[in-house]
Amino acid sequence: MFTSWGKTALLLGLALGSGAQDVITSDTAFYGQSPPVYPSPEGTGLGDWASAYTKAKAFVAQLSDDEKVNLTAGVSSNTGCSGFIQAIDRLGFPGICMSDAGNGLRGTDYVNGWSSGISVGASWNRELALSRATYMGQEYRKKGVNMILGPVVGPLGRVALGGRNWEGYSTDPYLSGILVSETVKGLQSQNVATSVKHYIANEQETNRNPTTDSDGNAVQSVSSNIDDKTMHELYLWPFQDAVLAGATNMMCSYQRINNSYGCQNSKTLNGLLKTELGFQGYVVTDWGAQHAGIAGANAGLDVVMPRSSTWNSNLTDAIANGTMEASRLDDMVTRLIATWYYLDQDTVFPHPGVGMPSSASSPHEAVIATSKEAKPVLLQSAIESHVLVKNTDNTLPLKSPKLISVFGYDAYAPLKYDLSNNFNFGLDRERSDLYQNGTLYVGGGSGQNSPAYIDAPIDAIKRRAYEDGSSVLWDFTSEAPTVDYTSDVCLVFINAYATEGYDREALSDTYSDAIVTNVANNCGNTIVVVHNAGVRTAEAWVDHTNVTGIIYAHLPGQDTGRALVELLYGDSNPSGRLPYTVAKRPSDYGALLEPSQPEGQYQYFPQSDFSEGVYIDYRAFDKDDDIEPQYPFGYGLSYTTFDYSDLKISKTSNASSAAYPASASILPGGNPRLFDELVTVTASVKNTGTVDGQEVAQLYIGIPNGPVRQLRGFDKVSIKAGSSASVTFSLTRRDLSTWDTNAQEWLLQRGTYNFYVGRNSRDLPLEGTLVY
Ligand code: BGC
Repeated sequence: MFTSWGKTALLLGLALGSGAQDVITSDTAFYGQSPPVYPSPEGTGLGDWASAYTKAKAFVAQLSDDEKVNLTAGVSSNTGCSGFIQAIDRLGFPGICMSDAGNGLRGTDYVNGWSSGISVGASWNRELALSRATYMGQEYRKKGVNMILGPVVGPLGRVALGGRNWEGYSTDPYLSGILVSETVKGLQSQNVATSVKHYIANEQETNRNPTTDSDGNAVQSVSSNIDDKTMHELYLWPFQDAVLAGATNMMCSYQRINNSYGCQNSKTLNGLLKTELGFQGYVVTDWGAQHAGIAGANAGLDVVMPRSSTWNSNLTDAIANGTMEASRLDDMVTRLIATWYYLDQDTVFPHPGVGMPSSASSPHEAVIATSKEAKPVLLQSAIESHVLVKNTDNTLPLKSPKLISVFGYDAYAPLKYDLSNNFNFGLDRERSDLYQNGTLYVGGGSGQNSPAYIDAPIDAIKRRAYEDGSSVLWDFTSEAPTVDYTSDVCLVFINAYATEGYDREALSDTYSDAIVTNVANNCGNTIVVVHNAGVRTAEAWVDHTNVTGIIYAHLPGQDTGRALVELLYGDSNPSGRLPYTVAKRPSDYGALLEPSQPEGQYQYFPQSDFSEGVYIDYRAFDKDDDIEPQYPFGYGLSYTTFDYSDLKISKTSNASSAAYPASASILPGGNPRLFDELVTVTASVKNTGTVDGQEVAQLYIGIPNGPVRQLRGFDKVSIKAGSSASVTFSLTRRDLSTWDTNAQEWLLQRGTYNFYVGRNSRDLPLEGTLVY
């Protein structure tokens, strides 16, 4: 399992014991073994955290030991918050309410159901990500939720069948990084703290938590074994962007990283997060992810949720007997309270949990978080969730159809939508690869949400028929429905469900495939709409001549039907692009199709070797250029066409081109010199069609000794028919660098860099080079 140098590193690590940080260097890579990094760095108020720390320190100085300990773990409350930190009344601290999740507030009424992370990824739209988060943040604030348990950038989507890939944005760290950054800014602009999760390398649901096998043997969580370079260039990248954007909290993950649990891993918490990235906020466990006592605190964990069975008064005992420094406890509490001050929650925030009743039937006031102002953003987020990938002979937009026939189990709203199941409306946690109880507008688990309403596709189609005087027929239940011969168009709605707690069984299912094929065999204009919580392959019908249109709709939230109808009838022009690669067949994902399983000598200590390094998704398909995708990363059609010209690549005149960034005081996000702009790229894009549209111009670069292409810029622009727009991409030092494991620095290599600009990762008409 481990390479010989990995074993050597292990022996070395054991011989040196903890505290040997200065001797163990990461040029030994420590694959499969996590090096010790101690002591835990104290938050000092770097950057714009200074005044929050001054206030927090003054606050903490007034606390008794018991009060400090109480702040380090959650308590039960009479609210429906997912987690609660108790109040300290004598100091006017009202407590902290934390609740799920990144697609809308879960567990209460009068909130919106927003498009999911994967839909934000599909929008490739920075401004939209920002406004979506801003309006979502307003809802959290009105409800007295101090911290949203999101957004998600882990999983990144390494495993195609991963059950939670839909909660994050994209398999690409650059795209995820930009979108998480906008999301953090939007949410925190409303004084709501963000808990960016799941830190880190939480790439599968299988064995995410320790279990007991059928013989009663303990089985530990899976270990994500990652080398230092891959960690920096792929998995840490979007978390770094989140810290740079001001993220106040990180949720450490369930699984192990290099065989050390995520919430007691001193390398990832003390080392990467709190030292290298200069993180000033606090680390909270995923719910129930604490697997150690004092060791977790010393490794950099600050707060345990939903409660701790091991900390409590043991923390003060540990200080008394010397196993933990008193300064560590102070730091844990200071980081928490500093976050509260950083977001001005001491002055402008409603009472924690005010809009979070413990159950639907308990007496509670209606705290209405939905607003008129949010509606256009809610709808636009739903629209840009959709990616049109097939449109034979421009069958879309529809041209005054007289008869629309609608098929499939995914077209209608759930038959029951009430306040049962502790406000988790509609979607349960049952594992299934399709969801037949109503249209799929969100995935399952803690990321699901409870919208004000669900506007299903059939509802919106009928409204349109009313306006147009057209007719609609439907059959939601038959696998081989009867098709009216005169149908102008047949719309088939299927889905690909995924939920927290399970990885998916397959990338497609035969039942849905049969519905599509049966309709297509009898309808010359069949358009398939897939609500997909992750990759959905379509090998059974993608090339069927009667399948004239395919839309990957993802998870649009409550306005799913309205958004779709706007697109179908051309009131909006599709502008979503795939935030992942759709393969021709599942086996094209190779070893990254399925999660790792406990096996062989590691059956009790499951191992997942990230031995592919940075070569996941399109980076793997492009390697040696031998796997042709069905639809490449970044792909998506519009009702118009765009031409590219005029590529210009220029170095910023006064920027340093030294191999390593100049040393500078660390700020949240890391060495600020990493974010100096080194290169600007511009190009011209012309709308050559007859309707207005939005194009996502994409920049990929080939960094020496790296993948053929990596996304390093995108610019979404609205262009009127016949007009041109200029697109601009600016590249930072980090964008051009690779992680040098010996120097422990980002290295700007000497050599030739290839630049490509165009429509998607495989259609890049403009090319150029730059030499360093
Ligand atoms: C999930 C987290 C979630 C937490 C609280 C956990 O099971 O992994 O994403 O925020 O529960 O509900």
